[in-house]
Amino acid sequence: MDPFVNATLKIDGSKSNGAQLFRINCAGCHGISAQGLVGPNLRSISDRNKDSKLIKQIVSGKTPPMPSFEMDPKSMADLLSYLHSLK
Ligand code: HEC
Repeated sequence: MDPFVNATLKIDGSKSNGAQLFRINCAGCHGISAQGLVGPNLRSISDRNKDSKLIKQIVSGKTPPMPSFEMDPKSMADLLSYLHSLK
């Protein structure tokens, strides 16, 4: 498995830190409550996608106009924890 994905999945992320990262980096395109804007609605996203796929989506930059994000595994784990909470 990809070492970054692996490192991220070992960390128990903080949802509140993740919510803050989301507001700063993602809400402009995905909406303040992830309801969708320029980017798609992310509600229940983790029912539709595996964590490894979500992580790759965020760091790869392969789906423009979504940029690639460089973050450390802790921040990614926090963000993932927030994405899991989107129902
Ligand atoms: C510049 C606008 C923009 C920003 C900023 C952005 N996204 Fe996106 N995002 C998009 C677009 C557009 C797509 C659809 C890409 C495609 O599949 O063609 C997308 C797709 C996604 C998907 C896949 C959705 C699905 O249904 O499969 C996820 C997950 C995602 N973004 C998460 C994030 C997260 C988390 C952040 C912040 C770290 C972020 N995005 C920041 C525009 C953006």
